[in-house]
Amino acid sequence: MKFFVDTGEINEIRELAATGMLDGVTTNPSLIAKSGKQFIPLIEEICSVVTGPVSAEVASTDYETMQKEADKLSKIAKNIAVKVPLTEAGLKVCRNLADKGIMVNVTLCFSAVQAILAAKAGAAFVSPFIGRLDDIGQDGMQLIADIRQIYDNYPNFKTEILAASIRHPQHVLMAAKMGADVSTIPASTIKALYKHPLTDKGLAAFVEDWKKTGQSIL
Ligand code: G3P
Repeated sequence: MKFFVDTGEINEIRELAATGMLDGVTTNPSLIAKSGKQFIPLIEEICSVVTGPVSAEVASTDYETMQKEADKLSKIAKNIAVKVPLTEAGLKVCRNLADKGIMVNVTLCFSAVQAILAAKAGAAFVSPFIGRLDDIGQDGMQLIADIRQIYDNYPNFKTEILAASIRHPQHVLMAAKMGADVSTIPASTIKALYKHPLTDKGLAAFVEDWKKTGQSIL
């Protein structure tokens, strides 16, 4: 499973990139607003830090303006994935970009039939929002399972399932079990994946016992 970080914070991206665990980055207008940074220079900087796909989202909702924004974003770097909403206009833009070999991440996917449309439009990624479905009492993970089953029925669908709106390690675990290709995860949740109390306890015991040997490896 690939790990993308879902953030607009360049320091978080640099820190995670240094771990060798990071396969890409996703941003959205809310994360850009939270960063307080200018959008285009920030995306340029992210693309220089990360070699994998970097999702940059259009801001307009009408087809003509969205297409212009998408064209501009697509020229920022080779690893840009233009992010468009799962709307009729968004999927038209997706088709146009996909035909030019540009990666598109179709976002705000909340149903399996929407995911079929994204695949038919040539999306490189579709982003089902797990946490937001759970928030309204639906089963986000069932959506991942449904999309996986459908995409596996049609080998001509090349779209990767990018589990988004992930809130905690259990979401990452379930997305992996359901066969999502990618999870986009907040930096704090990626860090939480390392943690287990028995790892901490076991390591503390090893450190103490090693001291008793009086030895040094170096
Ligand atoms: O980037 C899209 C998605 O991951 C947003 O997550 O937590 O705002 O629902 P959230």
